Amino acid sequence: LDDLAPGADPELTAAVLGLTRGSAGVLRPSFVNEPDTDPALPANREWGRNILARVADSTLGTDTIDAARIDSADKLDSLVASVADRGRQWGELPGAERAAVLHRAGLALAANRDRLIEVMASETGKTIGEADPEVSEAIDFAHYYAERARELDRVQGAVFVPAALTVVTPPWNFPVAIPAGSVLSALAAGSGVIIKPAPQARRSGAVMVEALWEAGVPRELLALVDVDESDLGKRLIAHPRVDRVILTGAYETAKLFRSFRPDLPLLAETSGKNAIIVTPSADLDLAAADVARSAFGHAGQKCSAASLVILVGSVARSKRFLGQLADATRSMRVGYPEDAASQVGPVIEPASGKLLSALTELGIGEKWLVEPRRLDDTGRLWSPGIKTGVAPGSYFHLTEFFGPVLGIMHAATLEEAIRFQNAVDYGLTAGLHSLDSDELDEWLGTVQAGNLYVNRGITGAIVERQPFGGWKRSSVGAGAKAGGPNYLFGLGSWVPESGRS
Ligand code: SER
Repeated sequence: LDDLAPGADPELTAAVLGLTRGSAGVLRPSFVNEPDTDPALPANREWGRNILARVADSTLGTDTIDAARIDSADKLDSLVASVADRGRQWGELPGAERAAVLHRAGLALAANRDRLIEVMASETGKTIGEADPEVSEAIDFAHYYAERARELDRVQGAVFVPAALTVVTPPWNFPVAIPAGSVLSALAAGSGVIIKPAPQARRSGAVMVEALWEAGVPRELLALVDVDESDLGKRLIAHPRVDRVILTGAYETAKLFRSFRPDLPLLAETSGKNAIIVTPSADLDLAAADVARSAFGHAGQKCSAASLVILVGSVARSKRFLGQLADATRSMRVGYPEDAASQVGPVIEPASGKLLSALTELGIGEKWLVEPRRLDDTGRLWSPGIKTGVAPGSYFHLTEFFGPVLGIMHAATLEEAIRFQNAVDYGLTAGLHSLDSDELDEWLGTVQAGNLYVNRGITGAIVERQPFGGWKRSSVGAGAKAGGPNYLFGLGSWVPESGRS
């Protein structure tokens, strides 16, 4: 590296050359997914225990998010104006220069893996087994979008004009990876960014932003704000100088944002009600394990989670499959993240409303295969539950619950199972467990969802390999998939080369 650029900062030079440094410190070309921490290594287990020992008293991110509080419309307006102005300058830079900063951001996220896990566990109850891959995903977004930023300059005959200002409103369920992906995509495209973390995940958003500032992303370009949602939050979304809003959250929130400003250019990934079909040709042992993990990982609070499993024909009567699914579910360790062995953590808030009813009540014809139990007084810790006999068109069939409860439906044929899978308003993820290629073709031709998984769980999309995004009410606005080749295109517009002023 010194030979190539004498006297230059080797990290920066590597980044400009499109080399990234993997976890082992090895420089490598272009994009490779960041590996998760391997818990089989004793040193890593020790590292994890040290993080978890800090969780109960963790205050990470507090000062940063407190300093980001904005209480007046004047202050908000002047911040919007200054980030938009700074965004314009940033957008003038060659993509390769922005890419260098993004690669640095990826390195900083990697260097802060322990802090990011600590804050997620402390603030949202995420287990280390879920939080560690989330950090890997955030790092992946940095290096992946850096490469896409370079490409924007290489398009012949057209010039990409980035949004000057993008507002990011992330969810609490992936409090690091989703805000990081959204912010990094906007920065890669050449936009200034204001991020407002979810109220339940303010500190996590702050620690993620601290890492990006530490990496050299200017604070005037990437601003963190904490505003009251009903008042200044609305003002921010509706602000005429805001060019794009990236929202990940409920479908109703996207509709609300549109009501604030009907012409709002929105990139929204919204709700899901996702099902896995299991046919008689499936490897039933694999299917049972994949269904349990997809349903109950992060206590079922992923927009990608399995909420339904649809059993075709004889699988519905298979004592072996139902027994394995029940066993796999009962054997998952439920607990707070301070215990490194916890696999199913607490839900974000005491279960109430439709989640509480899904955990405690049965619809007509439904029975518990595994009854969920409330494990302590907080109302947050529940052992996962499975109900059988969910009827087509019933409340459980069609409603998103976002918690550790799974419903089983029966279908006579694969065709009927696909009809049940498609009957919901949403279309985010869908799964098929089958070893029959004709069944696979039938399913691929008719299923309505953005992310399709075969003989695998339906959560945990990998950047570049499984770009993530949905159909129907799972997506609102420009619907390019996150972590995929076209995502940046929605964060600006193309003009003919001659037409640029
Ligand atoms: N990208 C996440 C997953 O695939 C959900 O947001 O599970």
